Amino acid sequence: MQISTTPTIELHRLHRLFGSTHAVNDISFEVHRGQVYGYIGPNGAGKTTSMRILSTLDLPTYGDAFVDGFSCINDPDRVRRRLGFMPDYFGTYANVNCWEYLDFFARAHGLVGRERSQALRRVMAFTGLNLLAEKPIRGLSKGMKQRLCLGRTLIHDPAVLILDEPAAGLDPRARIELREMIGQLAADGKTILVSSHILTELAEMCDRVGIIEQGRLLATGTVEEIQRQQSQASEVRVRVLGGAQALSQWLGAREDVEKIVLDGEYVNFAHAGVREAEVELLREMVVAGFAILEFGTHQTTLEDVFLQVTRGYVQ
Ligand SMILES: Nc1ncnc2c1ncn2[C@@H]1O[C@H](COP(=O)(O)OP(=O)(O)OP(=O)(O)O)[C@@H](O)[C@H]1O
Ligand SMILES: [Mg+2]
Repeated sequence: MQISTTPTIELHRLHRLFGSTHAVNDISFEVHRGQVYGYIGPNGAGKTTSMRILSTLDLPTYGDAFVDGFSCINDPDRVRRRLGFMPDYFGTYANVNCWEYLDFFARAHGLVGRERSQALRRVMAFTGLNLLAEKPIRGLSKGMKQRLCLGRTLIHDPAVLILDEPAAGLDPRARIELREMIGQLAADGKTILVSSHILTELAEMCDRVGIIEQGRLLATGTVEEIQRQQSQASEVRVRVLGGAQALSQWLGAREDVEKIVLDGEYVNFAHAGVREAEVELLREMVVAGFAILEFGTHQTTLEDVFLQVTRGYVQ
């Protein structure tokens, strides 16, 4: 996808203090059009606080946040028109049905006449709520409430979506469906910032992630980039047909290899170097005459990365 020069979402040296609590401490990152950025961090890390600032519901103590280049402090109206915020709680609306609920938010966004009924039909169809239009909200399951909340966020067709823990409390099928909806919205060109505690889920749906703890952005990038930043060495596992012993000796003479462990036909070791260096190492093994059956680098999961990056501090 073509990356435009003005980021659709930009946090610039954002700070938010509540008394002595530094809830958001110098956070900066950018998200471009059509990208999904995963915001992960433990309870109290500052995710909701920074998302609320971006959604113009709170003001930073210092710094600024921008949507399509418009400042959340100086241009909140322009920001609001472009942005939909899905909070991590669902307000109680006991005596309205799904249609009335969405209609209320459509009116609040100034949609009238045909434009409003078209927006309602579009959102009902996208969220799969068509058959539940007349169902009272109090009778909805958690999964359906989340769909309705997403629907309300989409009613004015915003270019930017801020989703605070949208998968919380959903069963596995509902999570997969949510992931598919988020993927579809990104494919339509929407820019999405999504927070979650469900780390593996973010790995699959996000182009990039940011790991935040105690208000600080500890790491940002693709999961693989963050993993590379965290550890200099990658774990490599090689399976060789005959000659595993000889391969371990050969590897033992190299400076970029350590922690060699022989395991039957397998040789496991730590390799210091970028991916290109790994490719070169494999080439050299083959040239040296070793019959390599398998060559694999340990895939670090987002959970591994999260545990490496965060320290479990709370505030
Ligand atoms: N209105 C407020 N007044 C005082 N402190 C606040 C306020 N809002 C947030 N905080 C504090 O700011 C810090 C960050 O809170 P925030 O809700 O942004 O975290 P979070 O990452 O969203 O956590 P969670 O995963 O639990 O939702 C916490 O220490 C919290 O207690
Ligand atoms: Mg939160």
